Formats: sequence, C-alpha cells, structure tokens
Amino acid sequence: MSNQTRDAEYTLGRGESETERLIEQSQLYEDVTRRFLLRSSITKGMKVLEVGSGAGDVALTLAGFVGPDGAVVGVDVNADILETARTRANDAGVENVEFVPGDARMLELPNDFDAVVGRLVLLYMASPADALKKLATHLRPGGIVAFQEIDFTLYPAIVHRDTPLVNTSIELGMTVFERSGAHIGMGLNLYRAFVEAGLPEPTLHFEAPMGGSAAWPGYEYLANSFRSILPLIEAYGLATAEEVDIDTLAERLRAEVVAAKRPLVLPPHITAYASLAT
Ligand SMILES: C[S@@+](CC[C@H](N)C(=O)[O-])C[C@H]1O[C@@H](n2cnc3c(N)ncnc32)[C@H](O)[C@@H]1O
Repeated sequence: MSNQTRDAEYTLGRGESETERLIEQSQLYEDVTRRFLLRSSITKGMKVLEVGSGAGDVALTLAGFVGPDGAVVGVDVNADILETARTRANDAGVENVEFVPGDARMLELPNDFDAVVGRLVLLYMASPADALKKLATHLRPGGIVAFQEIDFTLYPAIVHRDTPLVNTSIELGMTVFERSGAHIGMGLNLYRAFVEAGLPEPTLHFEAPMGGSAAWPGYEYLANSFRSILPLIEAYGLATAEEVDIDTLAERLRAEVVAAKRPLVLPPHITAYASLAT
C-alpha cells in the first residue's frame, strides 16, 4: 500500500445493481462482521461512527449491537445510496441510526464517539493512514477504531490449474481494482495504516467465505461483482462484454468448481481493532 495523491474511483460503479450486490455481499460476510464487532467490544449503549455505509448493512448490524440506548451515525459520500440505507432502516423499524452524506474525512462531526467502524472503505482512500488519523479525532479517550478490509494479494497462492475460469476471473478482477487506484492489499496493510496513523497496534484476524457445492451462493455473488466492474473491464480494454459473457458467468463458475471439487475462495477480509489510550 503506497499513499496516493488521489482517491480511487469507486471501482464497482454507482448503479442499482451495485446496491443489490452490496446487500448480497453483506449476507456472505455477515458472520465475519458480527464476530469482528463482538471481538472489538462494540456493545450496548455505545455511540458509533460508521464510515462508508453503502446500503446500510454495517450500520444496521451495529444498531443491534448498541441497542436502543446507543446510536449509530453512518456516513457515505454517495448521497443516493444513503436513501436505500434509510429506507432499509425504516422498514426494519430501526430508530437509532442516522445517515449523513459526505466525505467522512471532511465532515464536521462530534468528538465523543465511543467507536469508529468501517468495512471496505479504506481501500478507496488515497491515504488510509491519514484517514484513520482524522477519523480517530472523533473518538473519546479509550474509544475503539475497528476496520474490516479486503485483500486480493494472496490469491496467486491459491490458483489451481483445474479451475481456469476461476483463475482468469480473479486475475481480471484484481487488475481492475488495481487500475482503478484501489489498494488491493488493504487488508494485510491495515496493521501498517493503524501504526502510521499513530494508533495502538491493532488486533488482527483473517477470514474468507468459501464453498464448492452447487447450491453455494458465492458464484452469483462473484458474477454480480463482475457485472458491477464490467464497464471498467471494457474501458481498460481488458476484455469485451462478449468475452466476459456476464449472464452465464455464475453458471460457468459453478460448473467448473463443482467438477473440479476445488472450493472457490471469496476475497479474504482482514479485521483490525484497537482502543485509544484512556
Ligand atoms: C464497498 S462499499 C461498502 C459499503 C458498506 N460498508 C458495506 O460493507 O456493505 C464502500 C462505500 O464507501 C463509500 N466511500 C468511499 N470513500 C468514502 C469517503 N471518503 N467517505 C465516506 N464514504 C466513502 C462509497 O461511496 C461506498 O458506498
């Protein structure tokens, strides 16, 4: 991870199908996030700042953790997607969450939060360490910093010759994220980002959903991720829409994985948390 002068463009686009993909993704990574929040000691009554809310999944999970006596403030630069987040919170009868549009690094926010939490957001920021340093200023003494980020860089270690479609898909996906300016090794670089931000050394964990059965939902999820990055795949001249053949991708991945008996590993997420000095 090198610090950059510019943020990445949002690699996955801003369309409605991307909003649906974020919700689908949350379902696959929900357990990872719940374990992470539990370990981070996010608990009843806390006031939490949530960064990069997207369709609201992390904020809604946090709302359950902090309970009716706590509160969650979710922030996203994409004001449109926050409409979906608000609707979902209302539909679920969740009253202790509010969503604020804006760049989380620039907004005027209170400085008495008990925790700042984010999932899949530092990878888009030019300098994750600078962002963490700024975000931590919103915490009370002893407050918690907790981030969950993706890492693509270990994929080459699990490439297997039995699964050529999986291999080329992963290669293509990694290239698109890298070309768009996202930090593809953000997960493994969380430690460095915390330390460079002047935060205490974080406690780290590493998890990846994986599956090999025909019924596993990961194939559709991966294909929908490719639907979101297809415009960039074409714009960068990496492959044509015909070559990607998005409408059959999930089925082809499923058939290959099931035949090879080689489970597909979804992108690993690394979680990191630390508490400020009291
Ligand atoms: C991959 S989505 C993740 C959404 C959500 N955290 C989740 O895990 O379901 C990343 C979100 O971060 C938002 N984002 C990126 N940079 C941001 C910034 N500087 N401030 C606030 N939100 C940001 C994007 O608009 C996008 O909605």
